[in-house]
Amino acid sequence: MQDVTKSDLIIRIAGEGGEGIISTGDFITQSCARAGLEVYTFKTFPAEIRGGYAMYQLRTGPHPIFNQGDTFDVLCAFNGEAFDLNRERLKPGSVFVYDSPGGNFEPDIPHGVHAYPIPMTLTARELNSPRAKNMVALGALSRLFGIPEAALREVFSAKFSRKGEAVAQANLAAFERGVALAAALEKTDPYTVAAPETKRDQIVMSGNHAVGLGALIAGLDFFSAYPITPATEVAQYVSKHLPKLGGTLIQAEDEIASISQVVGASYAGKKSMTATSGPGLALMSEMLGMAFMSETPCVVVDVQRGGPSTGLPTKHEQSDLFLAIHGSHGDAGRIVLSAENVQDCIDLTVDAFNLSEKYQCPVLLLSDSSLAFSTQNVPYPNPDGYSRVERKRWDGEGEYRRYAHTADGISPMVDPGTHGGMHIATGLEHDEAGAPNYTSANHEAMQAKRFGKLKRAIDDFPAVEVDGEGEAEFGVIAWGSTIGVVREALQRLRAEGLRVKGFYPKLLWPLPVEQFEQFGASCNRLLLPEVNYLGQLAHFVRAETRLRPESYTICGGLPFTPDMIVCKIKEMLA
Ligand code: COA
Repeated sequence: MQDVTKSDLIIRIAGEGGEGIISTGDFITQSCARAGLEVYTFKTFPAEIRGGYAMYQLRTGPHPIFNQGDTFDVLCAFNGEAFDLNRERLKPGSVFVYDSPGGNFEPDIPHGVHAYPIPMTLTARELNSPRAKNMVALGALSRLFGIPEAALREVFSAKFSRKGEAVAQANLAAFERGVALAAALEKTDPYTVAAPETKRDQIVMSGNHAVGLGALIAGLDFFSAYPITPATEVAQYVSKHLPKLGGTLIQAEDEIASISQVVGASYAGKKSMTATSGPGLALMSEMLGMAFMSETPCVVVDVQRGGPSTGLPTKHEQSDLFLAIHGSHGDAGRIVLSAENVQDCIDLTVDAFNLSEKYQCPVLLLSDSSLAFSTQNVPYPNPDGYSRVERKRWDGEGEYRRYAHTADGISPMVDPGTHGGMHIATGLEHDEAGAPNYTSANHEAMQAKRFGKLKRAIDDFPAVEVDGEGEAEFGVIAWGSTIGVVREALQRLRAEGLRVKGFYPKLLWPLPVEQFEQFGASCNRLLLPEVNYLGQLAHFVRAETRLRPESYTICGGLPFTPDMIVCKIKEMLA
């Protein structure tokens, strides 16, 4: 048997949308996490509700995991397409579990691959539960790779018992047949799920749910939802929990209505948000300008997907940065944050509310489709550990002027109906009292006021994380979920003796220019990998700083892998 020194295991399950691929992966993920292991998942599925290629990749092990990994150790294919699409990655030593006999394909298995045929379709049919094909596969995987079986049974029983006793029993029977089928095979590969070191107080969440949780922690009062892949689960999560906390969620008729309701509710004194994806954000751009002009706090989460237009609705891309930073007419400002992982989705959502309330401006939080659907471990969240900022409100003294020029640049707000607090709320340029005023001196002073306060967000926000010390041959600037990939790539390069450093900004606008330049000064060369065609952050870095990072862009609907970054840097150093 080959010596496997890696401590993690990567299992990829692939087949057709509707075959229960996602559920199968989720069951394994939940059971590994319950057993105390770290998990990081990546899912890709078709835009169709049924049919098309669906894939779930789970990486699990006892140590922190930052990304989905380079490739899989174990491929479980439910059909011929899943085999065809992954055949090239079946290297000697890897494992292939597949539907046979009775499946729709007879694969020509590459030399040196450990192959385990499991009659998934046939067994499910024999049991009169064709839907339970995935459970036959799950039983087999559980036995072959030592997936914590007790936890697995708990997890899937809980899910299927909600669908009725008959469904639960049929799936249990299929699972047990899968276990027995695998037990009858000789195990030739060395892979097993690692034994956990200690059980920790952790939960497993997706990026979308974590955004919802962060909003609740921040004190969300009002959410206006309009469904769009891959953001819909944020609203689904909030709709379950917000009413219990006294808040309100409304489904609007479209994204323009959504953002308008959010701005209106915030004007009425409520902490408000919406979540959308690129096409929805494009529709919201006018109202974001209005929120900036009227200095109304609001939070918009943009779960990026492949664009432009309807684009690749279920695929990964980081291509909304131009839109997020400058998507409005006129000179309109906002704060833009970007999340690396599930923990960030909680923390930065709280930050988004705090910055928005403090600076009375729109704050956009960027996530992306792989992060939205990725499930990861996070320490059990403690809402009391977060600070919550409330907007500056008028103290009732003197004459109320909504847009008063103040020493700190922030004008006190009033809730509508406050005695003496009457003012005009308008998207027109206005004077300190809110009355329309188009004089050049007033417009210049008001723009300076609105933009001036935004810059201060840089000092409010934690310093950008620098990964590595001293002078480096290579510095890598990364944003969003690409950061997790770069972390691992740099670890590997350092292990080979290369001097490399990483720079991971989470506040993307206003750009912390000085910190970028300080980092750049400590590196001979800079690389900026991002998943978009135009090199959007690289563009801003070149425009705003003296740095000239080299762009590395991909836009194939999938995230980078650590190996891609390692190879690129070696190629550039050669
Ligand atoms: N017995 C009974 N039910 C089972 C089962 C089993 N053995 N295995 C899975 N299921 C159920 C699941 O519980 C789920 O039902 P639920 O939603 O009530 O929980 C359903 O079958 C689908 O299974 P799941 O594992 O979640 O997904 P899948 O791997 O079969 O893939 C999707 C289906 C998710 C790819 C597809 O339905 C989808 O949603 N595509 C995306 C559509 C989209 O967003 N388009 C973009 C428009 S712009």
